[in-house]
Amino acid sequence: MSHYSQHLDYVKHQFDRALAANGFDAVLIAAGQPAYAFLDDNAYPYRVNPLFKYWLPITASPKSFIYYKSGETPKLFLYQARDFWHSTPKLPPGEWQDNFDITIIDNVETVVLSLGNAVKTTAFIGEVHAPADSWGLSAYNPESLIDFIHYHRAVKTEWELQNMRKANVLAARGHNAARDAFFAGKSELEIHAAYLAAMKCRETETPYNSIVALNQNGATLHYDVYDNDAPAEHRSFLIDAGAYYNGYCADITRSYAGKDGFYAELVAAVDAAEQAIIKQIKPGVSYYDLHVETHRMIAQILADFGFFKVDAETIYQRGYTRPFFPHGLGHFIGLQVHDVGGYLKSENGDTFERDASHPFLRLRRELAEGQVFTIEPGIYVIDQLLEAFDGNEEFNWNRIAELRPYGGVRIEDSVVVTADGYENITRDAFASL
Ligand code: GLY
Ligand code: MN
Ligand code: MN
Repeated sequence: MSHYSQHLDYVKHQFDRALAANGFDAVLIAAGQPAYAFLDDNAYPYRVNPLFKYWLPITASPKSFIYYKSGETPKLFLYQARDFWHSTPKLPPGEWQDNFDITIIDNVETVVLSLGNAVKTTAFIGEVHAPADSWGLSAYNPESLIDFIHYHRAVKTEWELQNMRKANVLAARGHNAARDAFFAGKSELEIHAAYLAAMKCRETETPYNSIVALNQNGATLHYDVYDNDAPAEHRSFLIDAGAYYNGYCADITRSYAGKDGFYAELVAAVDAAEQAIIKQIKPGVSYYDLHVETHRMIAQILADFGFFKVDAETIYQRGYTRPFFPHGLGHFIGLQVHDVGGYLKSENGDTFERDASHPFLRLRRELAEGQVFTIEPGIYVIDQLLEAFDGNEEFNWNRIAELRPYGGVRIEDSVVVTADGYENITRDAFASL
């Protein structure tokens, strides 16, 4: 049996259980449709419903639907407008086509007409637009059905892992081109273009706005405005950029120093900490504990590099790592760059408590074989967060001022939990090039 067939069986099995547990016979999943700008006839870039592309590698056919009744072959209503203005989206080849009853539609009403009375026992999953909002489905986006699926889709099938490995190879190719453009003295905009060119894709075909930050811009966590002109000096470069393969995401960050010196050493220290955290990954470990341990490691780095006048233990105990490492250690990744479900405790939708001291941590679940998540520690000089410590004599402000023109450092890989450890699909991707 192929990996795709095994994947589809897994998806069907999860939906069979989720539908039964929630009292539905069937599900209708909408791919979604592009939204239009206000008073304009141009649409925003379209992103497919993640629970649509969970079934098959179709990411660019808006207004399509999947109908699945437990135990039956899933139906695909594939929308192809009869329209001489636009081209029809290309369909990925592959065996998925043998696993669906496919009907080509150019009017979405065909879907509800073909379902007939079945709509009354069918749940709808997707953005709710006219006309589907008046089709009279049994429920629209029932939370407990969606929670059930989201809880289980944290564990990836082999087909999903293959797609994510390939997404990482694509993104690694882009990262290498971006690194070369940095060392060639290019602008942020030119580096961004080099990244896309190496991946042979357009900007809207990436899972999130790439963060392409030179010098102090690396301190802005989601920096994506891109300077058109190269700076006079290329001190540092932080790039956080991903890729899609068959709808699955890569999310990679690398930091580079323009020359040897303390920033280059800081990059090496964060890289070593990231790998030390990854070495602890195996089933049963708590992601929350890894996050807390990363704060301890960051405290040690901050002490070693002289950013404080107190020792690492004091830095940690007083919460001084938080302004330097304000985001979470990472997140699930898969169909979405921030795959949901990181706080789900069970398939019933129970959730973990949020810890107010780590408000941006996106993942609290215990690690289990087949999960994929990122590990992405960082250290930044973020003035807005440091304001709260103004005048604190335990901070070495002169040393912090030395780091400010470099922005910050982040290193990010995606890791799969295996039966007795982990697989670092990002490092493997770079090594394969
Ligand atoms: N690129 C966004 C993130 O790392 O989560
Ligand atoms: Mn990430
Ligand atoms: Mn990232």
